Amino acid sequence: MTDRHELAKIPKLELHLHLEGAAPPAFIRELAKRRHIDLSGLFDEQGQYRWQGFAGFLAAYEAACAALKTPQDYHDLTLIVLENAASHGVIYTETFLSPDFCGAGDIVAWRDFLAAIEAAAESAQSQSGIVMRAIVTCIRHNGPAQARKIAACAQETAGHFVTGFGMAGDETCFQPCEFSWSFDAAREAGLGLTVHAGEWAGPDAIRAALHDLRVSRIGHGVRAIEDRALVAHLAENGVVLETCPGSNVALGLYPRLRDHPVARLRDAGAKVTVSTDDPPFFRTDMTREYDGLAQSFGWGASDFAEIARTALDAAFTDAPTRAMLQ
Ligand code: ADE
Ligand code: ZN
Repeated sequence: MTDRHELAKIPKLELHLHLEGAAPPAFIRELAKRRHIDLSGLFDEQGQYRWQGFAGFLAAYEAACAALKTPQDYHDLTLIVLENAASHGVIYTETFLSPDFCGAGDIVAWRDFLAAIEAAAESAQSQSGIVMRAIVTCIRHNGPAQARKIAACAQETAGHFVTGFGMAGDETCFQPCEFSWSFDAAREAGLGLTVHAGEWAGPDAIRAALHDLRVSRIGHGVRAIEDRALVAHLAENGVVLETCPGSNVALGLYPRLRDHPVARLRDAGAKVTVSTDDPPFFRTDMTREYDGLAQSFGWGASDFAEIARTALDAAFTDAPTRAMLQ
């Protein structure tokens, strides 16, 4: 199965997508121009995002966010991102939202941004059927004190739309235990929990995330492959990995897709799902991800159906939504 047209039509569930990271460069460039913000260094000659290495990527991501100022910007962004995802067969997406970029963690501002995003999600659902749920996300390198504010935003707005709490950012900063308070607060609010771990740091970081933050899902988690006992532990306990193969290759974690451990993790019994992370930054989309998996590992319809089933089971959403997606 290598026909991109056919691959695009397969129903997909994406559990790991950063809203700002999915912003088309042309959208950000236009906003920056309107606001007289100089982001010229952010784009290459083809108008694509320009960055180098993980630190460069994080800096480019934050630079792009500087153009996103108002709830209306986030409304427009959400519509574009969801329409684009739907065009690749995505029927359900969990999207990381960062109050750090939407009012700097202030709860009053956050409510306005969130209302705009949710209104756009409702429009997209009525236009193309795609269902979005939100994972409020703190940013690790902004530190544990700021993470508490973000957890408070998550707690205050937990419900039908905000269903999860997570942490992204630079995994080499701070220790997971320093964020336990925030994850405990989010758990008490009934939110599903996920944390980026085992992307840049090794297996011990995944163990610490599981032990200290008690998450059911791990963002990336691919470096578990370096520790056979850890992979067995993930398999036995049904921990779900939100793998993003194209992201890992673009960031230089693996030289080629065929070197990526997603197939080996799955063969060893770990529950894996597939997402794009920050598609325009990594020149990917869900069709391209599926195409790469088909080409590199020979995955076909039954493999993709199993991936979708795993994602549905692991989704942070209620039973009626789950039933609707079946
Ligand atoms: N934020 C957006 N994309 C990320 C990634 N791949 N790792 C950590 N933080 C991120
Ligand atoms: Zn991510």
